[in-house]
Order: sequence, then structure tokens, then C-alpha cells
Amino acid sequence: MPVDDELLRSAAAPGQTLDELPSDFEVLGTRYSGKVRENFSHDGQRTIVVTDRVSAFDRVLGTIPFKGQVLNRLAEHWFRVTEQLFPNHMRAVPDPQAMLVTECRPIPLEVVVRGYLTGVSSTSVWRAYERGDRSFCGHALPDGLRKHERLPENIVTPSTKAPKGEHDESVSKDELFRRGLIEPELFDRLEAQALELFAFGQKLAAERGMILVDTKYELGRAPSGEIVLIDEIHTPDSSRYWYADSYVEAMRDGTDPRSIDKEYVRRWLVAQGFTGDGPVPTLPDEVRIEAARRYVEAYEQLTGEAFVPDTQPPVERLRMNLGV
Ligand SMILES: Nc1ncnc2c1ncn2[C@@H]1O[C@H](COP(=O)(O)OP(=O)(O)OP(=O)(O)O)[C@@H](O)[C@H]1O
Ligand SMILES: [Mg+2]
Repeated sequence: MPVDDELLRSAAAPGQTLDELPSDFEVLGTRYSGKVRENFSHDGQRTIVVTDRVSAFDRVLGTIPFKGQVLNRLAEHWFRVTEQLFPNHMRAVPDPQAMLVTECRPIPLEVVVRGYLTGVSSTSVWRAYERGDRSFCGHALPDGLRKHERLPENIVTPSTKAPKGEHDESVSKDELFRRGLIEPELFDRLEAQALELFAFGQKLAAERGMILVDTKYELGRAPSGEIVLIDEIHTPDSSRYWYADSYVEAMRDGTDPRSIDKEYVRRWLVAQGFTGDGPVPTLPDEVRIEAARRYVEAYEQLTGEAFVPDTQPPVERLRMNLGV
């Protein structure tokens, strides 16, 4: 049941979306602000507040109504359904847009898994292939593949975690080892587990008419020594999804499959001539609302449950639920 337009429109009004979090939230711990999430660490516990900010091409562009709630709940959903396969950092979800997690020691790389020859940014596998590269992060790619085509098999293309403000870099696993970022045995084990997790995600998504195209996992070492999934999992911010029916049409007609991820916002930006440099175009409310619709649709399609938005003003609600 899609959220109605009136509700989306009023949720797009100033003050109704969560952009900045005031400094009194720092009673929750030492703050680290990402582009989208605010993290507070204290005494082995981390509070992750998922704001409504949207980022693309490594820049923050504004807010999308209910985006934080959708992402936080989707992460919760996926952490629950995958916990048997891979342990994770989640402890509790005290607010629709906040999660309490175990503070871990992050492994300094992103485990990117890709199933399709796609992407719009200059670092995407499609752009590399289009330029003529037939090796991507150490994986050989056959000739003759079309844009959006399924890769012969899912591949892991690790990426280094760049310091804040810099772009991450895709590298081969040999390069990871050369830089001493991870032990080969550990990497091989994590690579195998990531492929298994991704295949499981693809299977569940397929059962709901969706294609999990690619994703990014982050891992950390819990105080117990165990390696767990940290950050977020299979959310539209960390993953690309397509509607399965639109994929068939797109491959037939040579168009783009319909996506329910932030690709919509990325495409709008590219149409404005923005690919990451120069001033950020202001997202019109129509675009913010359409993006919100797609996030809500993503939630409902993937979970099979109606999205019931919490419409209380977010900062006040978070103060109450987090005891600030
Ligand atoms: N349980 C955890 N323990 C320790 N670190 C974590 C945990 N969960 C997530 N992190 C790390 O905290 C940071 C969260 O940052 P966040 O994702 O908000 O911003 P970012 O990664 O710097 O930038 P971006 O907005 O592009 O994602 C990441 O480096 C992530 O790896
Ligand atoms: Mg991050």
C-alpha cells in the first residue's frame, strides 16, 4: 500500500525530514558524521542514526522524506534474515531511524559484490568495460557482454576505504595484500562468505520480483574476536536493485531497468549535467517526493509488508526514544 501523495508532500516540508542532528545528541557518545548517518560511540556501543540525507557521487544533495526510516528498517530486516548465515553488529532498534550496535574494530576495506555489468559512475564495472577493459579488479571479463547483462558469475571487487572527503578506490585482492590491508587467508574466507550472503540476498530478492544487482559489505571485529557484519546491509544506499520484470524489457529494448535505489537521483543529476564536481543542483520537491515513493516501494516490495511511516517530527521523537 503506497504512502499517499498528501502525506509525502507534507513530509517533504522543511523540518519534517531529518537533516542535521543537534549537538545535545552527543550525550550518546563521541560523534562521527557520515554523509548519511550520524554515529555516536560510547562504552562499546554505537548508536547509528540514519538521517534523511541523500548522497550521490560522494556529495550530500538534500533530504528525501522517510528515507532514514526505510533504510534503517530495511537494514534491520536484512540483518535478521541473514544472521544465521553471518553474524552482525545489531543489538536493538529503539527508533524507526536509529539502531544500537556493538562497537567493532572495522576491517579497512569494503567488500563489493557485483552480479551485473552496470553502473553509471566513472568507477563502475560498466564504464571500465565500455572503455575496453577486460579485467576488473583482477577478474577477467569476456568480450561481447551488453550493458546490464548478468556477469558469468558474481564477483567480489574490494574497495579501499578512503579518508573522509576522498573517493574510495577499487582494487584487486593482490593489491590489498600488497598494501597489507588484510591477510590473504582471511580475505579468501570473507570473500567466500560474502558471495554466499549475496547469493542468499539475490534469492530472497528474486522471490519478491527484485534483482539484487550489487552491494557493499563492511566487516569488523567484535570484542569477542568474532568477525561480524557492520554498517548496513542490502539497503538501497549500499546496494542496487532492479525490478525483475523491467529487466527483461530493458534487455529486449536496450533501455535501463527500473531501479528502486538511489540510481533514480543519480540519473536526475546526470541529466542536469552533474557528475560530482562543481555546485550541487538543488533537488526539486517533485524529485524528492518521487525518490521517497521509490524508497517506500522498495521497502514494501522487499519485505512484503506495508510501510507505516512514523510522522512525528524526527528530532523530538529521536530525543525521546534515545533518552537524549
Ligand atoms: N559496529 C560498528 N563498529 C565500528 N565501526 C562501524 C560500525 N558500523 C559502522 N561502522 C563504521 O562507521 C563508519 C560510519 O560511517 P558512515 O557510513 O556514516 O559514513 P562514511 O562511511 O564515512 O561515509 P558514507 O556516508 O559515504 O558512508 C564507517 O566507517 C563504518 O565502517
Ligand atoms: Mg559508510
